[in-house]
Amino acid sequence: MNTIKIGLIGLGTVGTGVLQMVMNNQDKVSNITGQNLSVKTIVVHDVNKPRDVDTGDITVTEDLNAIIDDPEIKIVVEVMGGVHPAKEIIAKVLNAKKHVVTANKDLIASAGEELAAIARENHCDLMYEASVAGGIPILRTIVNSFSADNIIEVKGIVNGTTNYILTQMQQHHWKYADALKKAQELGFAESDPTNDVAGIDAAYKMIILSQFSFGTHITMDDMAVEGIQNIQLSDVKQAAAFGYTIKLLGIARRINGGVFAEVGPVLVPLDHPLATINNENNAVMVTGQAVGDTLFYGPGAGGLPTANSVLSDIVSVTKNIVLKTPGIRLTTSRIKSVLPRPAKSFTHTTWRLRCPTSLAKC
Ligand code: NAP
Ligand code: HSE
Repeated sequence: MNTIKIGLIGLGTVGTGVLQMVMNNQDKVSNITGQNLSVKTIVVHDVNKPRDVDTGDITVTEDLNAIIDDPEIKIVVEVMGGVHPAKEIIAKVLNAKKHVVTANKDLIASAGEELAAIARENHCDLMYEASVAGGIPILRTIVNSFSADNIIEVKGIVNGTTNYILTQMQQHHWKYADALKKAQELGFAESDPTNDVAGIDAAYKMIILSQFSFGTHITMDDMAVEGIQNIQLSDVKQAAAFGYTIKLLGIARRINGGVFAEVGPVLVPLDHPLATINNENNAVMVTGQAVGDTLFYGPGAGGLPTANSVLSDIVSVTKNIVLKTPGIRLTTSRIKSVLPRPAKSFTHTTWRLRCPTSLAKC
């Protein structure tokens, strides 16, 4: 059986999960694709750092050229994070005619179109299922299962770290700082958690979801984005007393021929399905004109759940290599108009919310 060689850039929370899954799930993958997969080379920032996984005879190096210049490596998995130098690295990899799988929402939200164009020029795949909602296969579901329906709205809990923090505050009355520290220890938070708590990570994911749901390219400047940094334990307790829970929600919806998107903390009635999504779990509610409301739930962060989404992309790329069909565009431009950001967060939502006085934002 032919073996497809993989280059891995990053061996942190997600990279370790990817390596474990490639090593442990060989049989299933080769049954589906008719190909063996093997990680040949791993590029990291510091080769001397102790690792949680045995890399055996895999080359572990700080030299990116060990992947770029290796004609045997056909698929490169980028799980190092950040926009720079990840963008330049992925462009180089694609120009070297290697397929790319990434979990990097910062990069895809800000430079996805540009990189997709480079991928197409080189007849390569660029896939990023793991960039939104970790282990939930939401992008593939929107492409495949909503292909004939008109999506009206996509909303949900798309950041695991903030949902973990809010859950600990709500259920165990932990302080915000203690819950954030634990989320970092568990590997849910970004290496710099500012983007998580400030709502920026969720906004990146809403940009990608809007592209898939409406074919519309929204930028950060189009969105009102608010995080959970100012939520106090007293706010969480007061919300509960009024029959609500506080969740960081992202919402993108069609309004008057345009698309409107925002991210912010919202009071969710306790009997709403999104109120029951706890810890690092995410949930994405997709509303289609024909199908109505659908809800997709699962772990939104963590090594193995995210690695599962990366592996599903690797399997898709492998099938495309076998069928000689790589480089097909995943999304198409449909709704061009983006509605301007509102002066105040969540002014356009139809959530029927009443705020306790200390949560005057919604
Ligand atoms: P992480 O634990 O911080 O790991 C990052 C890895 O990248 C480390 O192994 C690091 O090397 C390596 N690295 C950093 N800069 C590098 C450079 N310039 N050249 C080569 N290697 C470099 O991050 P993570 O949590 O695995 O996240 C990786 C990506 O997945 C990010 O884009 C993140 O947003 C995304 N993601 C994460 C999760 C999650 O639950 N953690 C879920 C979905 C998506 P060293 O080990 O030597 O420092
Ligand atoms: N830091 C991100 C989160 C990882 O907490 O959701 C998954 O994208």
